[in-house]
Order: sequence, then C-alpha cells, then structure tokens
Amino acid sequence: MFDNTYFPKAKKYWYQGKFYDWSQTPVHPMAHALHYGTSVFEGIRAYSTSKGPAIFRLPEHIERFFHSASTLSMEVPYSNEEITNAIQSVVKENDLDSAYIRPLLFYSYGKLGLLPKFSPVELVIGAWEWGAYLGEKTEKGVHVYITPWKRVHHSQLKMTAKLGGVYVQSAICGTEARSLGFDEAVFLNLEGNIAEGPGENIFIVKDRILKTNDKTESILEGITRATILEIAKDLGYETRIEPITKKDFFQADEAFFSGTAVEIAPIILVTDGSNPSEENKEHAIDAGKAGDITLHLARTYNDLVRGKINEYERWLTYVLD
Ligand SMILES: Cc1ncc(COP(=O)(O)O)c(C=O)c1O
Repeated sequence: MFDNTYFPKAKKYWYQGKFYDWSQTPVHPMAHALHYGTSVFEGIRAYSTSKGPAIFRLPEHIERFFHSASTLSMEVPYSNEEITNAIQSVVKENDLDSAYIRPLLFYSYGKLGLLPKFSPVELVIGAWEWGAYLGEKTEKGVHVYITPWKRVHHSQLKMTAKLGGVYVQSAICGTEARSLGFDEAVFLNLEGNIAEGPGENIFIVKDRILKTNDKTESILEGITRATILEIAKDLGYETRIEPITKKDFFQADEAFFSGTAVEIAPIILVTDGSNPSEENKEHAIDAGKAGDITLHLARTYNDLVRGKINEYERWLTYVLD
C-alpha cells in the first residue's frame, strides 16, 4: 500500500495538465531537478471559510513563482491564469476544505549534463491537509538554535527566489537543530546578523515596535511577512525594516517566526550555537513566553485568512467561485 501518512486527504495531484492518483509516479528518475535541485516552488495555504475554501494571497504567490522560474531561466509552459486555475482545481478535486498547496516547476527528463537547456520544464501541483508546521509548540512558543552555518548570501544566489537547490541548506540545518533537541534553526547571514529560519522569516518586538529585516540581509521576503507588516500598521503598531543583530534578538521583548507553513510562531528561547569554538549560550526572550503583540497579530492573522475580517477579504481567492 502506498504510504500517505504525511499527506492527509491527498487523493490526486495535477501534473502537466492531467490529474494522477496520488500513488502514481510518472516522473523519470533521470529528471534533471532530482539530481541538481533545478526546480522552483511555492508553498500556499487555503483556509476554510464560511464561503468554502479560500486561497490566501494567490496572485502574490504566482507572481513569486514566475520570478523564481526566471532566476533559473525557465520557460514556463503555462500562463499565470492557467496556473491559477490549476491550483484551484487541485483543491476542488481533492475535496479539501483547508489545504497546503505545493506547485513545483522543474527541469524534467532530457539530458543529465549540468546545463538544463535540453530538459523540458514541467509543472506539478499537489495539495493536502497540513496542520501547524512546528507542531503543538507553535502556540506556546519554540526554542530555536542559531546554527554555525551562515545563510547563502544574496551575492551568491538570488535569495528572493524559491529555488529547490537552496533548500538543501534548509534541510540540513533544520535536521541538525532538531537532532540537538531544538524546535527549529535560525541562520545568521555573512554579515553576522539574524537572517531567517530554514523556511520562515523573523520578527522581533522591542518597546512595542516591530522590526524585521529585508532582502539586503539575504532572506526570502515572505508573503506572510508583508501581510504582518500591513496588519501591524493597521492595528497601530510602529514597524521598522532594519537589520536584526544578534544583540537585538537576545534583548527583544518578543520574537516570532512568520511564514505560510509556520503562520505565526512565537520564539521564546534562543540557543546561540553560531560560534563552534565557544560554548552554546541560551537566551530567553523576555519572560520565555509568547508575547502580547505576537499573540494579537497571530489572532488577527488567523481570523483574516479565514475570511472573518472584511477589510482583508481582498487577499482571498475563493475556490468554489
Ligand atoms: C526561506 C524562507 N523564508 C521565508 C519564508 C516565508 O515566506 P512566505 O511567508 O511567503 O511563506 C519561506 C517560506 O516560503 C521560506 O522558505
């Protein structure tokens, strides 16, 4: 029996214009992307609303998808509208009320030289039900580990693109953090400032002012990050976009991760393992519990993605339209 354990409710996926049973695997093992990470992807969520499932900020995700594809010189074989429709159809086809949606463009089977130009670009879209990315601890707060590995720098690769190959670093460091007993990793950048998590952006709060960094600090500027910056302003909080130093992080009143998968997850403890020649040091963020502003933003975010706040309904694409 094909193992579906980690893909609850996934019945069919979309590949090159057709639906396939989840257990079918039509991609050839000599596909270019499997060997060299020559793929780009998106992570998108649909939420259950009173009007059926709604996809959160779909146009922004598709725009970033095309931007990522251009970084790999991909000629995308589908239009923006075709991808939008295909994504909606996957949620419908699987009867999902809420979903994590994963479109992937990849260089497929052609030739295995390093240059992908002899391999066609193909699109696959899967969707399944995926709860809290960091599990039960998401609400109470997580303990993060600053890894000694520095984030790939924006002078080395375009970090504004979601390139499959870059996620090797995320996978290695996320695994390392968990094997040491932490909930998630945090990367410093080559400048020595806080960059991001393996799949999350980072915010801190100091004296009721929210601060996050930007692409000049070698991060992927998340769509959730942009959402939080906007709702924070609407809720009357001051926001600043500046580098976050390690000291800022350790002395913050509050800190949290943001991302489509993780949503908003308070960070309550930080272990600094960034210098392997020194002993690891633990820092509690304020009192070591989720902060009020973090929880206020998380409540607002959780409501707006579910269509409970009228002014933000413009960010929802209803699937059953
Ligand atoms: C490396 C990285 N940073 C940040 C994010 C957060 O981005 P978003 O809020 O668009 O999901 C993600 C997730 O896509 C990511 O993979």
